[in-house]
Amino acid sequence: MMDSHFTAVRETRVKQPLIERFRAYLPVSDKTPVITLQEGDTPLLRASNLERHLARVAGRSLALEVHLKYEGTNPTGSFKDRGMTMAISKALEEGTRGVICASTGNTSASAAAYAARAGVPCFVVIPDGNIAMGKLAQAVMAGARVIAVRGNFDRALELVREAAEKRSITLVNSVNPYRIDGQKSASWEIVDSLGDAPDFHFIPVGNAGNITAHWLGYRDYLQRGKSGKLPRMMGFQAAGAAPLVDGAPVAAPKTLATAIKIGNPASWDGAIRARDESKGRICKVTDDEIIEAYKLLAGLEGVFAEPASAASVAGLLQLVSRGEMPREGVVVCTLTGHGLKDPERAIQSSLPPRVVEATLEALSGELQS
Ligand code: F0G
Repeated sequence: MMDSHFTAVRETRVKQPLIERFRAYLPVSDKTPVITLQEGDTPLLRASNLERHLARVAGRSLALEVHLKYEGTNPTGSFKDRGMTMAISKALEEGTRGVICASTGNTSASAAAYAARAGVPCFVVIPDGNIAMGKLAQAVMAGARVIAVRGNFDRALELVREAAEKRSITLVNSVNPYRIDGQKSASWEIVDSLGDAPDFHFIPVGNAGNITAHWLGYRDYLQRGKSGKLPRMMGFQAAGAAPLVDGAPVAAPKTLATAIKIGNPASWDGAIRARDESKGRICKVTDDEIIEAYKLLAGLEGVFAEPASAASVAGLLQLVSRGEMPREGVVVCTLTGHGLKDPERAIQSSLPPRVVEATLEALSGELQS
């Protein structure tokens, strides 16, 4: 009696690995060793305060229903874990000797963690001085071999593509198709939660793997009859790193959103296809707009996401303020990574704490709201 009771409790509490939950839609078999940290199944939060703010910005009543897909709650704090559980599991199935990636930080944190769990060596190549501290901390703690190159992300990606081939190690950037397969799961979860696809999906764009994966995921679900429509894909790049908007690679990308500081996205064609097939848009947001959205998200909704993540919400604010969004519709904004990845940026963007004497009198003086 006792035993069966506890078994039941245990079973309901265990979160399923992403690969198990979506096994029917993923290229895995009984022979695939599932390497998981219980990724995915992230919150989809209705953002009512943000909706009211958008109406003020628009200067008219709006009936937009806005949801935040908060990917920062993944095990390593970003959406990368969805693709990495697939990439590392398949690499292990194929008898890998080690894995390698270039990264603006989150991919390396995720690759390092999943490789540690799989017991395979992991090499990560980062642009020197350009990744947020939290991400570097994660990679080194998981025992990855971290190599910082004097060059940007695009150069690092060129190097690892060549190195992976020469050394017969597995490349786990999103040019690895299993990464894209796993990342499709975010759009499946959204449809499962809302009962259908949203009308608009706003998403930050860097190397362009995620917008590509989301679009493919939405199309899969439509084809299987799990949804009745497709969303318009709305991608946002940082203004100083917007090759897809400019129509040409950017040699020296610039933005404080280091995660998307990318001048020549590997999934260029996938992003353009997502935009065109969905009748969507890919636009730019300035660093100021990114920081404004970053602060609004935390201040209005209690959702702390890293600056690059806020590019989706910055894009929504921009289009609403320009009168380029319809009055009603269902909108999902992806927030790609956790705010704690980049604590320095948060502190720089806020007022410092007030320092007072340790007396009740001094404290009381500060408690005027
Ligand atoms: N947001 C965050 C927080 C990211 O880390 C990335 C990409 C993106 C958005 C853009 O996604 O590349 O699929 O268009 N980070 C990669 C990395 C490049 O190395 O961690 P994308």
